[in-house]
Parts: sequence; C-alpha cells; structure tokens
Amino acid sequence: MTTSSSSDKHQNFRSLSAPKGIPDYFPPQSAELKAVKDAFTTAAHNAGYEHIELPIFEETALFARGVGESTDVVSKEMYTFEDRGGRSVTLRPEGTAGVMRACIQHHLDRGQLPAKLVYNGPFFRYERPQAGRYRQLQQVGVEAIGVDDPALDAEVIALADRCFRSIGLTGFRLELTSLGDSSDRPQYRAKLQEFLRGLPLDEDTQRRAELNPLRVLDDKRPEMQEMLAEAPLMLDHLSDASRAHFEAVTGHLQDMGVEYTINPRMVRGLDYYTKTCFEFVHDGLGAQSGIGGGGRYDGLMAQLGGQDLSGIGFGLGVDRALLALEAEGVTVGTGRRVDVYGVALGEDAKQTMVRLVNELRSAGIGADMSYGGRGLKGAMKSANRAGALYALVLGEQELESGQVAVKDLSAASQEEVSIGSVVTELQRRLDERG
Ligand code: HAM
Repeated sequence: MTTSSSSDKHQNFRSLSAPKGIPDYFPPQSAELKAVKDAFTTAAHNAGYEHIELPIFEETALFARGVGESTDVVSKEMYTFEDRGGRSVTLRPEGTAGVMRACIQHHLDRGQLPAKLVYNGPFFRYERPQAGRYRQLQQVGVEAIGVDDPALDAEVIALADRCFRSIGLTGFRLELTSLGDSSDRPQYRAKLQEFLRGLPLDEDTQRRAELNPLRVLDDKRPEMQEMLAEAPLMLDHLSDASRAHFEAVTGHLQDMGVEYTINPRMVRGLDYYTKTCFEFVHDGLGAQSGIGGGGRYDGLMAQLGGQDLSGIGFGLGVDRALLALEAEGVTVGTGRRVDVYGVALGEDAKQTMVRLVNELRSAGIGADMSYGGRGLKGAMKSANRAGALYALVLGEQELESGQVAVKDLSAASQEEVSIGSVVTELQRRLDERG
C-alpha cells in the first residue's frame, strides 16, 4: 500500500492566480484604494448624494437596452451567462442602467427630484487587459435624476473635479462637449452618414456608419482620422435649446472656477448620452488616460420602461485614479494601521495586554498587539510597521508596579502611566493630536 504525505498532495495542485486582467489589491496599496473610494464617496455625500447599493449582476436585457447593442461594451465585453434557472444574466459592466432600473422598480422617480444617488464597487468588462485596463474595474459613480437643469450638469461636473482634487491629483484636464438631443441629433446623424458614405470605408466601418455613425468618429486609425478631419461635428449642429443648455453649463463652470476644454470630437463608449458629455483625462497614464467620465442621458429612463425623466451622472475610475496618484508621486491615506501597539513581555503581561487592547478598541481607539511571544526588538519593529503613534510596553517589572510604559513613537519619548488610567490617557493624547 502506498500513502502520500500531505506535502506530496500539495505538489499535485498547480498554484492559482487571479483571473486574467483582474487586479488584486492587498496591503499596503489596498489602504490607498479604500482612501480614494472614501474620498470620492464623502465628496458626493457632501453634495447631497445618498448611497445606493446595486446588484452585481442584472438581467442581460437591461444592458442591451440601456447601454446599446452597438457599443463595444454590450457587443463584445459583457460577462453574460445563464443562471441555473435558464435566465440570461450579466455581470454589470457599468452602473447607470442599474440605477435607472432600481429607480423605476422602487418608484424613486416619484419622490423628491432630483433623486441624487452615489454608488461604488466593481464592474466587469471583458476588455483586452493592459496597463490601466482591467476586466474588473472599480468605480465611484453618481446619478442625479429627474431635473433637466444645466446647473445640475455643472454640479455633477464640479463634483467630479472636486473628487480628484480631494485626493491630491492635479495633472488632469476636463474635456467637455454636447451631443445634442432627440430634436437635433437625427438631422446631424443623417448629415454625418451622408459624409461617411462619401468615404472609401472598409466593410466593417461601413456597417458601423449605418448602425451608429457617431461611433465612427472614435476610430483611432491615423488614415481614418485623416479622412474624418472634415466630418461635420454635432457641436456645430445643435438646436437653439441644446446650445442654450450647453452655454449655461459652461457659464456655471466658469463661475465656479472649474477649468475645461471643449472637445467636439469626444465619443463616449455608451449609447445613452445626450447633451452634456465630459471626460477627465490624465496625461501620466499612457493609452488608458480616462480617469472618469459621464454626461446626460435624457431618454434612458423612458427607454427602460419608466417615465420620461432626464438624468446626469458620472463614473470615476478608482483603479486609474490610483495609477494617476502613483504617476504624480502622491499618496493618500495616513498609512497608519492602528494608533496604539501593545508589546507584552511574558505570559502575565500578555494576559493584561490582551485586556488593555480590548479596552482601547472598545473606546474607539485603533489598537493591535504583538502575538506569539516576540521579543522587545521584533515587537517594536511591528509597532513601527503598523504606523502606530504609541507603543505600550508591559514587562514583569511594570506589571508588578501597576504601570505601563507609554512610548511616543514620533517623539521617541517614554512615560510610565498607571494601567488603570492608560486608556483615558491615550484617548486624551490622541484627541489633542486631532
Ligand atoms: P465609462 O466612461 O465607461 O462610464 O467609465 C467610467 C470610468 O471607469 C472611465 O473613465 C475609467 O476611468 C473607468 N474604466 C472604464 N473601463 C475601465 C477598465 N476596463 N479598466 C479600468 N478602468 C476603467 C460609465 O461607466 C458610465 N456609467 C458613467 C456615467 C454615469 N455616465 C452617466 N452616469
């Protein structure tokens, strides 16, 4: 009879990695990811947006109808599968369609308007992975639904700008355009199609020109860009109402001191956009330079079976914001895991330290301690690595005298404090530091 030891068994398994194109975030970088998400979310709450938690997957039809069949996102990039009940479901590639669905289903569009919502989390797109382009991407998004007021467009854009500034980014620019609405877009579309039919396009592009001519403007091939140089632009064909709306938006942005450039050739990757559209671009990121984008989507709710209400929102790329921070050499967050780190030398001291650390945590103070009977030197190293402001050192001697040594790690000073009052003392000191 042969037996295999457990280590032999391990060797039979290949080591596993995360699926292709999907980033892992682990300490210390994961703290930065969280700090970016928190900063964006806080800025949105500060502007009156309330949290909405969306399903990670939805009925496939929602994205097909909402985002548009002719987009790359729907036609090539969705993670679609059948559930065990035979329904076609899709991992959400973006958040706007899901917010609209939830609004219609739960009648949020019948309450006070605009409904202002913020969400965050992972989205899934089967794109070709490259630097800054992931198959699981993180966004913080907002949607303001139900009021077609250019001041609201300006609020959303200024909020995105503030989000990026709040984490210390400066090397980005805001590009802006208007895509017109249901009254002026059809005429422009026909004009663009007429122009495109006069070009020697390949078969694929011809098909795209018939299905969604605006998307052809996004063709990055140099020969195409050359041919498209003379293409008519939506911005030159806006109706009076669309033009007035766009001018009001830019007027508000100027009033608020939000800088922008007009990019009349902007093509967004999702089909629901109308009127105001914008993108934030960071020059330190190479090809995947879009750190956030959004716009108005006035027909979307009706298209999904709801009331004919307008909406505007954005999605900020958290992964790319992190890369942009790295490119600018800026860090976010304190880098501090806990404020206080306990070091116990000996079994009796450990017993007291376990209780003390628990009391600190109950008092709302971030605290950790060294485990496994480590010596003073190693434990102090861990205290520094944790970014702690104070170390509590408790040896047999201190224990006997009912004292604990409080080391201020930034000042490299030390003081004995009675064990009974150390929690209050640390609270006082931390409050003082603010
Ligand atoms: P989006 O432009 O498709 O818009 O995505 C928003 C942001 O998500 C992008 O600017 C980019 O920073 C990030 N992003 C997109 N794809 C990837 C990827 N593969 N890897 C890393 N980051 C990525 C939307 O999703 C709309 N729902 C935004 C919106 C909300 N419009 C109106 N309301």
